[in-house]
Amino acid sequence: MALYLKAAEILDKVERKEGAVKTLVYNSKFQNIKQLFALVCEAQKYSAVLQNIIIATKLMKDTKLKMNLAKVLVYDLLIGQGLKCGGSWKVMMMKHRSRLQAELARMKVKKQVSRNQDLLSTSGRQIEGDKLPRYVRVNTLKTTVDDVIDYLKREGFLYLGLASRMEDLQNFSGKTFVSDLHLPELLVFPPKMDFHAHFLYQAGHIILQDKASCLPAYLLNPPAGAQVLDACAAPGNKTSHLAAIMHNKGKLFAFDLDAKRFSTMSTLLLRAGVTCQQLANQDFLKVDPESPEYSQVEYILLDPSCSGSGMVCLQDSCSEPQEEEGRLKALAAFQLRCLNHALHFPGLCRLVYSTCSIHTQENEEVVSACLQQNQGYRLVPLLPAWPERGLPPLTQCLRASPATTLTHGFFVAVLERRPKEEEKGLETPSQNGSPICAKPQVTGVDEAQESVDMEAQPENPTKKRNSKKKKNKTQS
Ligand SMILES: C[S@@+](CC[C@H](N)C(=O)[O-])C[C@H]1O[C@@H](n2cnc3c(N)ncnc32)[C@H](O)[C@@H]1O
Repeated sequence: MALYLKAAEILDKVERKEGAVKTLVYNSKFQNIKQLFALVCEAQKYSAVLQNIIIATKLMKDTKLKMNLAKVLVYDLLIGQGLKCGGSWKVMMMKHRSRLQAELARMKVKKQVSRNQDLLSTSGRQIEGDKLPRYVRVNTLKTTVDDVIDYLKREGFLYLGLASRMEDLQNFSGKTFVSDLHLPELLVFPPKMDFHAHFLYQAGHIILQDKASCLPAYLLNPPAGAQVLDACAAPGNKTSHLAAIMHNKGKLFAFDLDAKRFSTMSTLLLRAGVTCQQLANQDFLKVDPESPEYSQVEYILLDPSCSGSGMVCLQDSCSEPQEEEGRLKALAAFQLRCLNHALHFPGLCRLVYSTCSIHTQENEEVVSACLQQNQGYRLVPLLPAWPERGLPPLTQCLRASPATTLTHGFFVAVLERRPKEEEKGLETPSQNGSPICAKPQVTGVDEAQESVDMEAQPENPTKKRNSKKKKNKTQS
């Protein structure tokens, strides 16, 4: 029984995007991790099939089981190796077994297949997901890139150096890895490489984060000592990345509305050694931008809830097209409200807006609408070398996708406050994407590869510097 309750709990959390399956399973402290992991993965894989069976047989109505609990039980009863529980649950499930079996058989007849696995849609997204490289962000609050590389080499990994082309991130296998060509502190491993049980991950020295999701903090690039706000922060991967870029110096306000995700964030930030944060389990839209507390906030990262349509591991939406359209409209309206709200912080000079969505409605359309309503801000042209751009005319922004950037689908825009002269009609755009902030800040965003070197030497004298990095240019 404990197995099914835990598996259902993890599926609930995955749906609420509280973390990846593996992370949640490993953090669950369940006795038999392997058994739990296998059940969650299988139930997830067969999710659409199980859901159809459960709905067609009205199992939830008859048993009062919640959907994910019903899914894991039905999976083991019909497809897995039989129920691993006794007592009243077994009696209940056995009572419904023939109806459930009949529905499964009916589905196979309808699809003209004989095996259970043939009921699975050969979704291209799942296949793509399996082929994506695995990215590891080195947490420079606890260690250095060089130290992690050395540690892994001692464990038998082969380090192939700095990648120079996208192909270098693809054509390797086994225990080999490279440094990413776009983002510093990012190591790239072959697909399916798993570090969840690794010491470096457990100790917070490495963060398992998709490359695209490292873009927002990297492009915001706040200097040490800055006041920064992460508006929709949980579970906190980008927050810890910001803290690392700030060398834990300054103030990092992080908000999240969801209590569970907020609590996960507190744990993750602790593990990552973040100390400059001020967390609040609060609705960002209710945060008063005029409050003196936030008067020094110059940088905002806004990564609001989105459809998640870029996440290749998420199942295809089962909703009707009209329902989906309504959902996207509501999400886009929420995203625009958040964006407009963020631009009201009086000291703001630079903001990153990002989503893990591939829908124009949540990306370019939100940014365009926002810029129309806030003429005091403009887009910063980002990373000319990045292979995928925002859809025209918003080509200053970046997009990411499995096919082009070997990442999940993603969108990033950087907005900066226009200089006063420009607002008055004198056109003096920043040619190189340099922000109009008072504090020292990285120049052209394309140079951001060098940006992490701008702050002071690491506090920990045992840390080594990454010799590959060059000194960053700053401007005041
Ligand atoms: C895409 S996730 C953020 C992921 C996070 N930036 C990271 O990298 O780990 C969106 C988050 O926004 C939170 N959220 C949604 N509405 C919110 C609101 N009105 N105020 C604050 N947080 C909100 C959700 O709870 C969710 O945790």
